[in-house]
Amino acid sequence: MELTPVAVIRHNVGPIDGLFLFDTLALIMLIQKNIPIAQYTTFKIGGPARYFCAVKNEDDLLEAVKFSKEKKLPILVIGGGSNLLVADSGFNGMVIRNEIKGKDWKEGNDGIVTVTAGAGEDWEGLVKESVDRGLYGLEGLSSIPGTVGASPVQNIGAYGVDVSHAIKSVRAFDTTALGFVSLSNEDCGFTYRDSMFKHEKGRYIISAVTYELSKNGKVSVEYKDLKDYFAKKGNSQPTLKDVREAVIEIRKNKLPDWTDWGTAGSFFKNPVVSAQKFTELKKLYPELPGFTEQDGHVKLSLGWILDKLCNAKGLTIGNVGTYEKQALVVVAKPGATAQEVLDFSNELMRRVKDKTGIEIEGEVEWAVA
Ligand code: EPU
Repeated sequence: MELTPVAVIRHNVGPIDGLFLFDTLALIMLIQKNIPIAQYTTFKIGGPARYFCAVKNEDDLLEAVKFSKEKKLPILVIGGGSNLLVADSGFNGMVIRNEIKGKDWKEGNDGIVTVTAGAGEDWEGLVKESVDRGLYGLEGLSSIPGTVGASPVQNIGAYGVDVSHAIKSVRAFDTTALGFVSLSNEDCGFTYRDSMFKHEKGRYIISAVTYELSKNGKVSVEYKDLKDYFAKKGNSQPTLKDVREAVIEIRKNKLPDWTDWGTAGSFFKNPVVSAQKFTELKKLYPELPGFTEQDGHVKLSLGWILDKLCNAKGLTIGNVGTYEKQALVVVAKPGATAQEVLDFSNELMRRVKDKTGIEIEGEVEWAVA
């Protein structure tokens, strides 16, 4: 395995010699070859990247794209690697780790505060700081692993809140038009766990996201787990901080510890079906939970289906299984391969199809080239 740098990109520095290179470390970006990617993902699975670089600013990003275009390499951008399954054969292209940092808070009228955060900022750090500043909007999204740049791509959501409600705009490099663009909330085409970024795959590389938060908001505690939590505590008027603490505790009790397990959280999306299909399924399974969406479609709880209909809660095949407390979450033991995860997920898909006729869709991104 070759671990030596194959390219050095410099910004505003003179000719490189060994000493000079060392002195100007902050200004260079290394593009390396054959770097194992598993270490950069929460599944801790996957082969090497043919090329790998970490970008710390938009100039680096531009250079990384230029390098990839010249060599005709497919690009995979990673943030926290928390929603990613990399093939055992690795990625035969350029893996760009987005490490663009920075947060810029701006106070507007009527208690509105916007924050523009670099795509490589830690998501949980941003949520914590917003709550510490007394700002409403992101508290329900506490304790989600990953980076700011991933939040619009997958329209992260939890406890009744999707991040799309707080996103004002997204700054991204358009690899087709070869320039940075600002995309409005509408341009992003957000739906449940989905956005335009997933459909125009590879076209945009996000460098920053602007969120609109409020000093005078209201907490949302309609989600069953939150309602139960506050009822148990006898807290009828939870504050912003209470909601954040509740979400952290609920997640801790229901989801695996990312440092112990290889996992990417929910492996599949909750399926959304027609009202008619829901009625048919309800006849067969009267307890099936379903949530009617604004357009009349019904979102089903796949965790419930896997658990109660497919006997798959805690199911383990070899090194891979579903989490013992949440059947929608796939966990992998050390040494598990991507192929084992795929085989296991195919087994879950088959069981759901047998019981409900529904073809479920992955939520985790599959990276292979
Ligand atoms: N359920 C079961 N058995 C299970 C799992 C769930 O019966 O093994 C039931 C629960 O009792 C509940 C329903 O299914 O009635 C829904 O479960 P839960 O509240 O845990 O939420 P979810 O729909 O399974 C979604 C997100 C999670 C997010 C939670 C909480 C998706 C794909 N997943 O899960 O997000 O944390 O809601 O808001 O939408 C993630 O994306 O990685 C993730 C963890």
